[in-house]
Amino acid sequence: MAEPTKLIIDTDPGVDDAVAILMALAAPEVELLGLTTVGGNVPLARTTRNALALLQAAGRSDIPVAKGASRPLRGRFKYAPQVHSPGGLSRRLPEPAARAVKEGAVQFLYDRLTRAPGEVVLVALGPLTNLARLIWERPDALGQAKNIVVMGGAVNTPGNVTPRAEFNFYSDPAAAEIVLSSRLPVTLVDLAACRQVGISREQAMRLRSDHPIGRLTLELLQGWFKKHPSRQRFEFYDPLALAIALEPAITTVAKVDLDVSLEENESLGETSETGGPGEITLARQVDSARFFGLLEGLLELEGFQPT
Ligand code: RIB
Ligand code: CA
Repeated sequence: MAEPTKLIIDTDPGVDDAVAILMALAAPEVELLGLTTVGGNVPLARTTRNALALLQAAGRSDIPVAKGASRPLRGRFKYAPQVHSPGGLSRRLPEPAARAVKEGAVQFLYDRLTRAPGEVVLVALGPLTNLARLIWERPDALGQAKNIVVMGGAVNTPGNVTPRAEFNFYSDPAAAEIVLSSRLPVTLVDLAACRQVGISREQAMRLRSDHPIGRLTLELLQGWFKKHPSRQRFEFYDPLALAIALEPAITTVAKVDLDVSLEENESLGETSETGGPGEITLARQVDSARFFGLLEGLLELEGFQPT
């Protein structure tokens, strides 16, 4: 039996973050060392509460949660309650009994990454503020990660918060630029990759599971469709990034150099290839059948007929 994969998830739950976290909890080959939270989809207090509530609902309150940034490096978060609901999740989970640990996200990440050099995979599913602060405050830490998998950016594809920018990068473009220009081993799962793995309303509403974590996932996923009657498709943004962290062969990749626009105009947060030789491993062609097979297997979902 291979050693379990040590994982830390930096997150702004968020319905799709929640599905990714539940996948990690259901994966036998994963040792989830902790969650670090950041504002983004909803304010930090909410994303932290949601992280604690999810772990409690999955019977894993033993996993630590460390609070991170309530604001981006510049300005304020724009939030997306219209997508995730004001509370951030598509159903209200019982109030968590546990609290976040006393150390903040940067200290938590520094401790865990330096305690197990080359062993921890960091999956970043929200604005990259915590990672940028870690680079600033502890420059020797992030390089100790085994891999850094980031959900963010829209490379050669339209954005989802403005015509040119993806939400996580738009929420803190300066942080995204710091991480992408750090020359650290970043795997980027952008909107072009994520748009290859969506599910329709009818597909989602047909799903069933007898697995406790699978059932909780379906409550959130089907709850999302119920809360948003006009939405016909759910895209697995953060779950795809998590899946690629667990099984990199789910996607083909290309090495690219990327730039994030910090211009205070319609290009703010836009992610562009510079054309130069690159260190960023960009997900390209996703094997969607393999992704859905992983999702179905981990959460014991029945009734899947992805098109
Ligand atoms: O653009 C998609 C990303 O923004 C996802 O991480 C989603 O949770 C939101 O944070
Ligand atoms: Ca997210």
